[in-house]
Amino acid sequence: MDEASRNDWKLIYDQSVAYQQQMPQRVKDILKSFAGVSNGFPVDQLDHSLQMATRAKNEQADDEMILCCLLHDIGKAITTVNHDRIGAEILRQFISHERYLILYHHQIFQGRYYYSKIGKNPDEYLKFNEEPWFQDALLFSQWDQLSFDPDYPHLPLGSFEPLIDQFLGKYHFTWEE
Ligand SMILES: [Fe+2]
Repeated sequence: MDEASRNDWKLIYDQSVAYQQQMPQRVKDILKSFAGVSNGFPVDQLDHSLQMATRAKNEQADDEMILCCLLHDIGKAITTVNHDRIGAEILRQFISHERYLILYHHQIFQGRYYYSKIGKNPDEYLKFNEEPWFQDALLFSQWDQLSFDPDYPHLPLGSFEPLIDQFLGKYHFTWEE
């Protein structure tokens, strides 16, 4: 690597930008790959994601929040363990810091609905109650936990694809001329 010239690095930069530009499509493909992945829940991860985004949209959430709902579980494409933080880091560059923190901690907020049933502390989320994003995190987890309803009508993935393009198309790469 330390033997690469500036021209070599320009080539790497240009091809890395081209790869980055494909990120929105990769994210759409990940969502599509969630079809049939139910992990024991009544709906699969694709329908869960679409349902949560539809709920947010129906409650007049802003576009960034709808995007976060749509992609909040994207880390599960690789692993359920730490998926909250993985998804938050994937989206970090494209969203506000408060929304990043909501994604980062969304598992703990989900815990208020079920941690008592698996021997964990359901009140763990209360350690964040002084945070400015606390109320939004509560609302977020409410939409999340409701969105396993097989009878809830959700919008198709196609209706959210412009949102993915809009937010994830704005990457930050720099090259000093
Ligand atoms: Fe979820």
